[in-house]
Amino acid sequence: MRRRRLLFSLLLVAAAGLGTAAAPSQPAAAAPAPLDGIIPAPASVRPGGDSYTLGAGTRIRVPGGSDEARRIAGYLAGMLRPATGYGLPVTTEDGRDGLVLRLGGTGTKSLGAEGYRLTSSGRAVTISAGRPAGLFHGVQTLRQLLPGALEKRAGQQPGPWRIAGGTIADSPRYPYRGAMLDVSRHFFTVDQVKRYIDQLAMYKINKLHLHLSDDQGWRIAIASWPKLATYGGSTQVGGGKGGYYTKDDYREIVRYAASRYLTVVPEIDMPGHTNAALASYAELNCNGQAPPLYTGTNVGFSSLCVPKKVTYDFIDDVIREIAALTPGRYLHIGGDEAHSTSHEDYVTFMDKVQPVVAKYGKTAIGWHQLTGAHPAKGAVAQYWGYDATGAAERQQVADAAQNGTGLILSPADRAYLDMKYDKNTPLGLHWAGYVSVQRSYEWDPGTYLNGAPEDSVLGVEAPLWSETLSTSAHIEYMAFPRLPGIAELGWSPANTHDWPSYRERLAAQGPRWDALGINYYRSPEVPWPAK
Ligand code: ACM
Repeated sequence: MRRRRLLFSLLLVAAAGLGTAAAPSQPAAAAPAPLDGIIPAPASVRPGGDSYTLGAGTRIRVPGGSDEARRIAGYLAGMLRPATGYGLPVTTEDGRDGLVLRLGGTGTKSLGAEGYRLTSSGRAVTISAGRPAGLFHGVQTLRQLLPGALEKRAGQQPGPWRIAGGTIADSPRYPYRGAMLDVSRHFFTVDQVKRYIDQLAMYKINKLHLHLSDDQGWRIAIASWPKLATYGGSTQVGGGKGGYYTKDDYREIVRYAASRYLTVVPEIDMPGHTNAALASYAELNCNGQAPPLYTGTNVGFSSLCVPKKVTYDFIDDVIREIAALTPGRYLHIGGDEAHSTSHEDYVTFMDKVQPVVAKYGKTAIGWHQLTGAHPAKGAVAQYWGYDATGAAERQQVADAAQNGTGLILSPADRAYLDMKYDKNTPLGLHWAGYVSVQRSYEWDPGTYLNGAPEDSVLGVEAPLWSETLSTSAHIEYMAFPRLPGIAELGWSPANTHDWPSYRERLAAQGPRWDALGINYYRSPEVPWPAK
């Protein structure tokens, strides 16, 4: 099956090559992109039949369209109009031609909450799904099947806008496919976060984990403890002015993420990584004295005061206010690198805090150190160990998984997007080693952690820590081209995993990123087309 698909792609690539050689100035001769050329690799592909060509008369049909399906159709039209120059009217009239978005209907139940089917022929391209998220993911697939020039916003592009014939039936391997952005070490504005959300959505990522607090900054307004944001958020690494999200800002991020079918997972890191909070309120410190704000990059020096009652009043208020703003089920409580908290205190603390998360209707996620305490029923551990992590620590996480703790896998020497690619990378850190594009792709979430049952794995997440990053260009340089690989590990069946074909598919994304103005790293591991 795999071999046939590869062979088919190679034939198409060869055909495209011949066409280009015969008529270099006529892109019209190029074959459309193969259905299995996208990222993440679809679960099943059956190529064949005529391709579809977008034209001046193409309509986008949303038969009987619900508001949500119509909104997705509007999003698709907005994506296609600038470069094609076509009107692409959206209509709720049924019909057998054009771009058809079909929600519900026969055969869509088996596609699950996020799956879709895309059928392309000379007459129409139809995306069917049981749920709106599936329709949206199908639209991202359609987008990647069109030339990268589609993304240009500098007026009409030459085309043609062809979509190869055949059928894709696709649904994700894992329900949790996340990316984390550290907005604490450096603050990123709502618009910067939205830009990243749009980039994540292209690869069917469905969780945006926001690391909202750390030693260097508290980034969300809490009405009952206002100085957390106004004072604790007033600086960042290197001493810049920092910043924080008002509640309306945060609601806007949540809304925008939801419009791209991502759920926000807010993190308040505790009991360590809390200097910004400790600096804001003296009473949170065991000695009653507020430390200064911190703008360096050390870790492990701060701790909430575990024996004090006020600590839990504080936590109750913070979790209540954030839970009320957050429609998603998860709330992340950190729990990593609590080097200034005794083990006994750490266990006591986590025993007290996890029920507060449950009280406000949320499921707790903790970094995997939580498995050294007593993970609550239903809690999730995010594994960020790496090759040098000791066997006992791995075993502790595997044991917790055997006892029902779900796992999100973020191995630091694979999935941490802030690790340098190699020794020459100007940004990022390298405490977990250098992480090349191939290294970040070459692992299997299902078998990665020895002793953890396969069904304990909820999915994967690519964290991006921002000690060295302060602009969108920085974010993009570290995330691209590694992020799509982590997205693929979360979405695609294990039997599609293949570095030689993946690097070709990755290379094909280059022109799209160029058109979008994404500042990606042109890794020599990837055979990018010439610019
Ligand atoms: C972490 O990287 N400290 C979770």
